[in-house]
Amino acid sequence: MTALPSPEPSHDCPLCPRLHDFIAGWRVREPGWFNAPVPTFLPPEGEGSVRLLIVGLAPGLRGANRTGRPFTGDYAGDLLYGTLIAQGLARGEFKARPDDGLELIATAITNAVRCVPPENKPVGAEIATCRTFLKPTIARFPNLRAILTLGSIAHQSTVRTLGGRVAALPFRHGGRQEAGGITLFSSYHCSRYNTNTGVLTEEMFVNVFREIAAFLKN
Ligand code: URA
Repeated sequence: MTALPSPEPSHDCPLCPRLHDFIAGWRVREPGWFNAPVPTFLPPEGEGSVRLLIVGLAPGLRGANRTGRPFTGDYAGDLLYGTLIAQGLARGEFKARPDDGLELIATAITNAVRCVPPENKPVGAEIATCRTFLKPTIARFPNLRAILTLGSIAHQSTVRTLGGRVAALPFRHGGRQEAGGITLFSSYHCSRYNTNTGVLTEEMFVNVFREIAAFLKN
């Protein structure tokens, strides 16, 4: 039997030299920051309880790369975690700190690229290399029913990970498609840029989660 590769990169993952060097520079400048591949955020009930996986783009420099928890410490997290709590997919209070006690319910959160990229822009080879971890991350949840991808890069990488063709399963905000036995929901990324420019309104984001919450209830 061949063992699946680990779903988590090592703390000093060397697979993407540009990202490895970028993080090394920030370890020197900000030794108190997390500065490493950011692990998947899991609910306390464990892998077996996860029915929804949320896939973001990559850690923000002063957000997840600083705190070590996806979407924690930058604007995108305020909208994401606020919505998760409102839809019954998280409990507690989000205080933008990894020790705020916030707990996910039936949900896990990961990123298509685990290391912070310069200017928030991973290149194609880095996105492809990080599928080494996205694939076993999806496989680790035996009761997974749905994946929500945030933005087109996360969407395309997830489609490829599930063995689908991007041309056949294109990104669309509010999209719902079937791939590899999983229902794939897609939303514009909840970044400050997208909300400031009106690409994504809070109502549009909440509506995606309402649909997912209804889907998971059935
Ligand atoms: N923080 C994350 O962890 N991922 C994103 O995609 C954006 C912010």
